[in-house]
Amino acid sequence: MTLGTSTGSHAYGEPSYWDHRYLQDPGPFDWYQKYKNLAPLFDLYINRSHRVLLVGSGNSTLGEGMVSDGYQDVVNIDISSVVVEAMQKKYHDKPELKYIKMDVRYMNAFESRSFDAVIDKGTLDSLMCGQNAQQNAKMMLEEVGRILKDNGVYILITYGDPSYRLNLLKDIRLWTITMHVIDRMEKNPEQKSWELTKPVPLSDDGNSVSQALGSTPEVHYIYVCMKVSSSNAEINK
Ligand SMILES: C[S@@+](CC[C@H](N)C(=O)[O-])C[C@H]1O[C@@H](n2cnc3c(N)ncnc32)[C@H](O)[C@@H]1O
Repeated sequence: MTLGTSTGSHAYGEPSYWDHRYLQDPGPFDWYQKYKNLAPLFDLYINRSHRVLLVGSGNSTLGEGMVSDGYQDVVNIDISSVVVEAMQKKYHDKPELKYIKMDVRYMNAFESRSFDAVIDKGTLDSLMCGQNAQQNAKMMLEEVGRILKDNGVYILITYGDPSYRLNLLKDIRLWTITMHVIDRMEKNPEQKSWELTKPVPLSDDGNSVSQALGSTPEVHYIYVCMKVSSSNAEINK
């Protein structure tokens, strides 16, 4: 399923849509990719002892997969109280996995520089489908930048190619960006076209990506944004 292709793509930006959806369909459901496909990439950038935040976690099995694979501190937030309550109940016996109802644009409850990694699978995409998309996306990214430690990573898994996502990410001016891609799950797993752990060259305007992959590759894009330490922040401006 791809965000933005249904008849009511605006709805993906509305909390009421998600509450309704989670009441109708308690899941579990993973957008885009499952943990086992992404694990080799996480291994490159995240340690098992790192404090990790999954934003807009929904009823995905990503957090469960990470904890089963040894990650020790995985915090999940979502704007839908329906899904957060269901997930708190489901995982009440897993102290490594926490669920909190929170809007990713207002993460005031988290201190600045308190997470080593933030993972976003489909959440920026859903904000980009709603009203005031640019403003909401900017608020979200600024909050993500605030709560990341120096050298922490924001890993964005999205259907958005660089022409839709790169400027938005670069405008935050807090991080360096590395691009990876992963074959879409719908593709035959035997026919892997792209190597997940090998970065794709990313030019300033992003055009290098379509030059490397062709104009309509069947991939999800993964932007790994590494926060530069405050003492080096000027270099990135
Ligand atoms: C496309 S789903 C992705 C769910 C999950 N990350 C996955 O990969 O399966 C988007 C999720 O973002 C949540 N969401 C939408 N707007 C949000 C906001 N402002 N703050 C926090 N979560 C939000 C929705 O409730 C929904 O669970």
